[in-house]
Amino acid sequence: MIVVLSLGGSVLMGEGFNAERVREFAEVIERISENHRVFVVVGGGRIAREYINAARELGADETYCDYMGIEVTRLNAMLLAGAIKKAPKFIPHDFKSALELSCNHDVVVMGGTFPGHTTDATSALLAEFAGADILLNATSVDGVYSDDPKKSRDAIKYDKLTFKQLVDIVSGKETSAGVSNVLDLLAAKIIERSKIKTVIFLGTPENIERAVRGEEIGTVVFG
Ligand code: UTP
Repeated sequence: MIVVLSLGGSVLMGEGFNAERVREFAEVIERISENHRVFVVVGGGRIAREYINAARELGADETYCDYMGIEVTRLNAMLLAGAIKKAPKFIPHDFKSALELSCNHDVVVMGGTFPGHTTDATSALLAEFAGADILLNATSVDGVYSDDPKKSRDAIKYDKLTFKQLVDIVSGKETSAGVSNVLDLLAAKIIERSKIKTVIFLGTPENIERAVRGEEIGTVVFG
């Protein structure tokens, strides 16, 4: 299988630097890559948000803030790639370079690409371009809810969604730099147009392996 894993920055890094945590993700990714071709797109997490908030406060425009966020995703990608022996130590900045690298490497790690969206969309675009069989979105919530589960006790978790339902749920939410939603709208639309089977789940190393094995975790989007 061709697997694209979107690894949220907060999932990989936690609240700060935790080398042991990064090592655990690296080990799982190495294991998966023994049987599958793997692309990992790493997010920016708390550090990206802090840079973006500070730059915004200093008067930077949203595109500039996005570029700052992208730099942090690439730094995080470097950290993970440094822990995966067989990953190239070069972080591609675009999808063509990522695909080229994957000809000689079982695992390719990258960060963001261009302004205007988050690494959810980057990973959806990469999944489309690489002809991925599955897109795994390892995030900080255990699936897609009808409402923000941290704010509403009535929020319902969806185990399964169609592509159209995903777009309907995600649309209408904020998309300014650094804003964190379960998935960004562009990602949902790319997933819908290319019908990429997607699993959105709580990002732990064990859950990544379970998702690859096809176990029913989080929210599965298909059909
Ligand atoms: P993230 O993908 O990390 O956003 O990119 P996030 O919503 O904070 O996700 P988590 O917390 O990691 O799960 C960080 C920021 O970098 C910019 C955006 O501003 C985004 O909010 N970015 C990232 C881009 O503009 N383009 C990209 O391709 C990737």
